Amino acid sequence: MKILIVGTGAREHALARSLSQDPTVTDLHAAPGNPGIGAVATLHAVDQLDSAAVTALATELGVDLVVVGPEAPLVAGVSDAVRAAGIPVFGPSAAAAQLEGSKAFAKEVMAAAGVPTAEPRVVTEAAQIDAALDAFGAPYVVKDDGLAAGKGVVVTQDRALAAAHAAECLSKDGGRVVVEDYLDGPEVSLFVLCDGTRVLPLVPAQDFKRVGDGDTGPNTGGMGAYSPLPWAPADLVDQVVREVAQPTVDEMARRGTPFVGVLYCGLALTSRGTRVVEFNARFGDPETQVVLARLATPLAGVLHAAATGALDTVPALDWREDAAVTVVVASEGYPTSTRTGDPITGLADAEALPGVHVLHAGTRQEGDTVVSAGGRVLSVVGVGVDLAAARSAAYAGVERIGLTGSHHRSDIAARV
Ligand code: GLY
Repeated sequence: MKILIVGTGAREHALARSLSQDPTVTDLHAAPGNPGIGAVATLHAVDQLDSAAVTALATELGVDLVVVGPEAPLVAGVSDAVRAAGIPVFGPSAAAAQLEGSKAFAKEVMAAAGVPTAEPRVVTEAAQIDAALDAFGAPYVVKDDGLAAGKGVVVTQDRALAAAHAAECLSKDGGRVVVEDYLDGPEVSLFVLCDGTRVLPLVPAQDFKRVGDGDTGPNTGGMGAYSPLPWAPADLVDQVVREVAQPTVDEMARRGTPFVGVLYCGLALTSRGTRVVEFNARFGDPETQVVLARLATPLAGVLHAAATGALDTVPALDWREDAAVTVVVASEGYPTSTRTGDPITGLADAEALPGVHVLHAGTRQEGDTVVSAGGRVLSVVGVGVDLAAARSAAYAGVERIGLTGSHHRSDIAARV
């Protein structure tokens, strides 16, 4: 099978790595990819948001499948264009990707499908902010309606901060804000593959969104993740499929916008039961890095089946007994600012450690040197017989990496 991956991050590197290990994959391409992906795929300098250019590339290469990684190309309609050219694509249409593109839309679908979530108030004018905050009280949960690269959600006890964030979101063109009840309890990410009508869950993972140890500091795209979750209820996956994923996929199909791709169910296990915190229309980053590290079933056939409405032909997925932990190495200043252009050392040393692989996110090749080129620079993955072994491996890998000013959390999977 010939496959084209769209995207640039560690999530796409994880997908590329898994696909490159699948014996049915004969040819792997990425647009535009990154230096790490370049080790297992041919890179093409194509703008991932340019639907026509991605479609032209997929057509020219004669690929059997396009896998779209990030949310921005999905919302921009890249999947629609590729699908219209007759090429199977793993990734929802722009209309279906609104489950991530608009928090208000997602809430509307959840209400129609009877999916348990926090009650929302959609705010469209500054004059409505105070009443919405008062309706729920602290801690305040204020979400930008649209895509905001991980910076759209503010959860705070500070009313002034909550009001300021709401006002900032509203000041954007067509800005809308969702204010909602705070959901207590641990969060879980569950990725569910969808073929438009059927669903196939992967295994749960947990990510660490705050920049600092002990869940302190501002939100980020994610600073680390682990899987499995020994503390999660044994029936969690079945429950989420039954109460969340299948009703959502049914509702999207009923609306004439079937969901094909991965429905990322961001969940809170609250004292009142499992609730959806958010939907995303793509794999999570960095959770994908640990989930795919545990998947033994070759990935290409599964994604192709989802893309072609054939998930019923996929046998039960096979999972390794191993645990996986990933630690994100971020550049100086992230998430507030991003220092780039610094050489990264120790990549080969880290990869040489047993159970360690290094996935590239914000990196760039300069001659023989890989340099930093983004906020989240690397995802170092450790795999081991249990979470303690996986954690040791991941941190041993991180210790081998040299990057001036870089930082990482030291408590990923520590408590568990
Ligand atoms: N890990 C959070 C996300 O992918 O949105």
